Amino acid sequence: MSFILLDIHLLLQKILYQFIMITVDLTKINDPKVNFKKKYAEGHSNVYIETYGCQMNVADSEVVVSILNKNGFAYTEDIDVADLILVNTCSIRENAEKRIFNRLQHFKGLKKKNKGLLIGIIGCMAERLKEQLLEQEKLVDIVVGPDAYRDLPKLVQQAEGGQQAINVLLSREETYAEISPVRLDKNGVSSFVSIMRGCDNMCSYCVVPFTRGRERSRDPETILNEVRELIEKGYKEVTLLGQNVDKYNWKNAEVNFAKLLEMTAQLNSKLRVRFSTSYPQDMTDEVLHTIAKYNNICKYIHLPVQSGSTRVLDLMKRGYTREWYLSRIDAIKKIIPNCAISSDFITGFCSETEEEHKETLSIMEKVGFDYSYMFKYSERPNTFAEKNLEDDVPEKVKGRRLDEIIQLQGKLSLKSNKNDVGKTFKVLVEGVSKKSEERLFGRNSQNKVIVFDRKDNQIGDYVMVKVVDCTSATLMGEAI
Ligand code: 5AD
Ligand code: SF4
Repeated sequence: MSFILLDIHLLLQKILYQFIMITVDLTKINDPKVNFKKKYAEGHSNVYIETYGCQMNVADSEVVVSILNKNGFAYTEDIDVADLILVNTCSIRENAEKRIFNRLQHFKGLKKKNKGLLIGIIGCMAERLKEQLLEQEKLVDIVVGPDAYRDLPKLVQQAEGGQQAINVLLSREETYAEISPVRLDKNGVSSFVSIMRGCDNMCSYCVVPFTRGRERSRDPETILNEVRELIEKGYKEVTLLGQNVDKYNWKNAEVNFAKLLEMTAQLNSKLRVRFSTSYPQDMTDEVLHTIAKYNNICKYIHLPVQSGSTRVLDLMKRGYTREWYLSRIDAIKKIIPNCAISSDFITGFCSETEEEHKETLSIMEKVGFDYSYMFKYSERPNTFAEKNLEDDVPEKVKGRRLDEIIQLQGKLSLKSNKNDVGKTFKVLVEGVSKKSEERLFGRNSQNKVIVFDRKDNQIGDYVMVKVVDCTSATLMGEAI
């Protein structure tokens, strides 16, 4: 049973948050301009894309496919017919990179069978490792950083001509504002919309400011247009994405994040609006009041705390104390009483003591997080921590501390879910349960997954579901 729970939990982590691996789903792409069969018949190149890492990468892959599509590339989910394989990568932890390196070795092997095959690495690893990937490793033909995707068609041509093809320039302006992404999701219900790029926070452990560059906000009109297009295509939910959405700022606060949320919510009352990720230091009461004011803004905030110890938070350069974080939680609970809250945690950060680890456990209990994403500290090259702090907590201790917070989160999630038994929620249906054709699954406003009997409900419907049972990972309900 615990295996099944762990399985479901992992699945949820994959679906709901990060470290998603998607492949392009050809069957979903019904735009006539994107007719794979026709283009293939005409002898165009086919691109296959694999995406690792955060939701932002998922959104970026959709931009990349759009750029390539406009330049005569068809795309495929069948790797065997690909002329170009792109891997959109993540550098956040060493493990993520290792996994991708293995995958690249595998792709390199495919070149023996298919001599013309080109392999491109894009995203954070491309930005971090740059020429090394072309020279030392010789694993790939093309290297493109997150701000250089418009250059991809030209770089592919260069690589076809046998030249080195690399562009890892970061930009202070690029937001791919007017590009209409080709949707690669499988359900046609929920989509990501990027509202800003980069991160200026410089948390001491984090590689993201180096791989994704400076913070910049996207023109709100283009964001709203993208959401309007999604509504027209029948999508029911959007997630506004940024590394720190609370810093969204268009033209000296002419539009701030609260205003953008409001404008998005006002487009259509049947559209659910979500967002990620919030930052404790920057999340304003104005944002909280906006969430409370609109029924269609989901009552769920992902507010990573990372550690419960003020000293560790200081070393992490998070810019807030334990008390400040707790005061923001109080504000959420006061302004949005039915709001679910989740967090990220890092265990075993440089010099973290047993006492400080216990402070993390105690902040978890105090807040009662509905769920969390938990990681062992992984030292990343060139970060402040790598240069100035010692990665001195033994691997075994990091692992044991991680196990402890996972155990505790399991208990907190179960408690939170048990509290929902007997309640009725409006659920947006996202798919058919893997275990039974007779059951559907979807999420409530609080982002909790609910599985329930199908009856004659369809994917994309809003259904009122009464919760009758739960595990720590899932609510089970009956449609009413
Ligand atoms: N080691 C472990 N976890 C990390 N994260 C970011 N950088 C690291 C790192 N070097 C985690 C943080 C962040 C989430 C996206 O990934 O918890 O919120
Ligand atoms: Fe990394 Fe901190 Fe920026 Fe998040 S807010 S991407 S953890 S630097």
